[in-house]
Amino acid sequence: MAIELEYNKEHVINAVKQNIRFLNLVIILIISTLILVNTKFLTSLLDYIPINSVITLLIVLSGLMVGIIFMIKKISYTAMNKLMEYSDKIDALLITKQTEITERKIAEERLMKAHDELEYRVEERTVELSKTVEIMEEQISERKRAEETIQLQLSRINVLHSIETAINASLDLNFTLEHLISQVINQLGVDAATILLLRQETLILDYVVSKGFRSNALKYTRLKLGESNAGQAAKERRIVSIPDLRQQSEGFERSKLFVNEGFVSYFAVPLIAKGQLLGVIELFHRKPLSSDLEWLDFLKTIANQAANAVDNAILFDRLQQINFKLMLAYDTTIEGWSHALDMRDRETEGHSQRVTEMTITIAKAFGIEDSKLVHMQRGALLHDIGKMGVPDSILLKPGPLTYDEWIIMKRHPEYALSMLSKIDYLEPAIDIPYYHHEKWDGTGYPKGLKCKEIPLAARIFAVVDVWIRPALSFRVAG
Ligand SMILES: [Fe+2]
Ligand SMILES: [Fe+2]
Repeated sequence: MAIELEYNKEHVINAVKQNIRFLNLVIILIISTLILVNTKFLTSLLDYIPINSVITLLIVLSGLMVGIIFMIKKISYTAMNKLMEYSDKIDALLITKQTEITERKIAEERLMKAHDELEYRVEERTVELSKTVEIMEEQISERKRAEETIQLQLSRINVLHSIETAINASLDLNFTLEHLISQVINQLGVDAATILLLRQETLILDYVVSKGFRSNALKYTRLKLGESNAGQAAKERRIVSIPDLRQQSEGFERSKLFVNEGFVSYFAVPLIAKGQLLGVIELFHRKPLSSDLEWLDFLKTIANQAANAVDNAILFDRLQQINFKLMLAYDTTIEGWSHALDMRDRETEGHSQRVTEMTITIAKAFGIEDSKLVHMQRGALLHDIGKMGVPDSILLKPGPLTYDEWIIMKRHPEYALSMLSKIDYLEPAIDIPYYHHEKWDGTGYPKGLKCKEIPLAARIFAVVDVWIRPALSFRVAG
């Protein structure tokens, strides 16, 4: 651009110089023409003016002409210089503008570059952000999965707690196992389940409870150890898993209805508590089952709980049987004592037994609860047990008792209290032996209670004891 400007400037200068030369030539021509035109005038002028004056005039004129030319030339050069000056200024201006344009271009280029860089960075940042968003989404998904896992685990803990509560709340084994099997189906996501218990006497696995079956397919299951899949799980004490029952021709021959159930997946888990095999829990699903480690752990935990429930129920059953036998032994003993007391007191044969039966009949009519009736029964049978502390000389005296003897005789309720209150099992039966000689009007003994101060059991018994006392009895009701 600078070269181009320089070239244009040179071009202008040359053009101005040519014009000046041309102007000089024109002026000379004009002057020459004027001279030529006025030669005649000058010639005629010589007639009037001496030659020297003419020459002088010519010289003056020539000088004038030269001066004019010089002036014109000067003016031209001045104009040219001015022009050059303006041209320089224009050049400078142009250069400035050119510089500005160049700078602007550079700025634009920088701007473009910056724009490109910015665009690149924006793109790069966008990619980074996308990656960050993807990572965050993945983290959110992971967190959601973790939350779902936690929720699942919490739910399973609740289930285990619920099963434990059911086990603790009820010792009815069937109820507990029904509750457990419902939870197993819900929490492990299987279609059906069944529990077989091992009968220790016969070593046979018997069906106990099931849920989710369309038919009675496995309701009559009785398996020997090692027989079928459940028997195998029990015998080998390990989980038996069959991913696709359709591929297995054996295992459920025990039920013709089983095929119609359409089960695909199967698990059999032995129920073992304190090292003892108690049964097997079987799980069935009508689709392939994806069982991860966590699922299997939960299955094992449930199986442990089921085993504990069975163990508790068996222990409770044994305890109940022992308790029943113990109660029977106690009651037989009490009846024996009662009979012995009757005999010692020379009561009519079976007196205590009869008053007891009538007392219980009336107590039932009063609506007294069964749990209290058993204590009333024992109390009635032992109502005169305190007489064990009365000497035979008084108890068996044929005639009337003296005052002192009577005082001793009237102590027998207190002897009863002293004897029975030391025996936990008989302490709740104390009301009849201790209060059976109290009277409604407060004239009885040992405490002189009256009306409803006297325990109801003692009131009922006292009425019965007097009512059925043999007419020949010579003393007050025993
Ligand atoms: Fe008595
Ligand atoms: Fe009696």
